[in-house]
Formats: sequence, structure tokens, C-alpha cells
Amino acid sequence: MFVAAALTGSKPEQYSELVQQARGLLAGEPDRIANAANLSALAYHALPDVNWLGFYFFDGKELVVGPFQGKPACVRIALGRGVCGTAAVSRQTQRVDDVEAFPGHIPCDAASRSEVVVPLFRGEQLIGVFDIDSPALARFDADDVRGLEALAQVFVESLA
Ligand code: SME
Repeated sequence: MFVAAALTGSKPEQYSELVQQARGLLAGEPDRIANAANLSALAYHALPDVNWLGFYFFDGKELVVGPFQGKPACVRIALGRGVCGTAAVSRQTQRVDDVEAFPGHIPCDAASRSEVVVPLFRGEQLIGVFDIDSPALARFDADDVRGLEALAQVFVESLA
């Protein structure tokens, strides 16, 4: 059984511990659904002030919701739409301090106030996005972005 130890230290140190836990959790398993599900559960329960955390996968046309923790979410997001579609098209992590100020933001859980979306690429190939929502305004800073990008990288590297 995998037991996630409580995170300690500065925020970068906590993310570093979480990344190590994620590596252990995903080690030796290449299945995309299994790893997205377990990484969502690990990170959702480790990170404070998060109300939705999970994956959208690119099906060749648009983003389709994958494993996540939180309330039920919108299923399909067109490329270029919302924070998720913007991250996928721009290939840049989107950090949104106030989702209501983001043009085209797609509300899934009405409680969400700030959001980070990390695009997932293997080489040139779009895999999907890793999306994290918070009920607090400006919940995420640069340390969160770096930590969430590192977690996303663990997921990408785990894939067969
Ligand atoms: N807010 C996202 C949609 C996904 S939910 O937050 C889970 C967006 O604007 O793309």
C-alpha cells in the first residue's frame, strides 16, 4: 500500500517531496488512465485550497475530461477555448489569479476562483492538460507553477 507522508518545509521543498511521492506512485506503470487517476488523488489530497484537480486528454480534435478529483466537470473543451484550451494551443502554462477576469473562462465548479493549467506534451505531440482549480483568489504563485509543472512532467515521463 502506498502511504503519502505529510509534506514539510518550504513550499518548493514540499513540492519536491510531492514529486518524489508521485514518482514512487507511478513507477513501473505506463497506463495513462491509472497514472492520471493516482496522480490526481495524490495531489488533490496533498495540496491545500484546491477544489478541482485533474486531467483533460486530447482526442485528436478536442480536450476530453479524464481522471480527476472534485465535482463533475465539463466533458469537452475545444482547443483555444477556456484556460485549458488556451494552455493547449499556446503550449504555455496558464496561471489565472481571477478566473472571472479571464476572457472565455469555462466555469465548471462555480466555487473556482483561480486556476493553473499545465499543457502536457511529449515532444511535439499534445497529450492533454493538467488543470488545478482553487476556491481562493490568486491561490497559485510561481512556486506552485514550478511544482505543478514538475508533477505534470512525472506523469508525461511515466507514459509508455
Ligand atoms: N475552467 C476550465 C475548464 C475546466 S474546469 O476548471 C475543471 C477552463 O476554463 O478551461
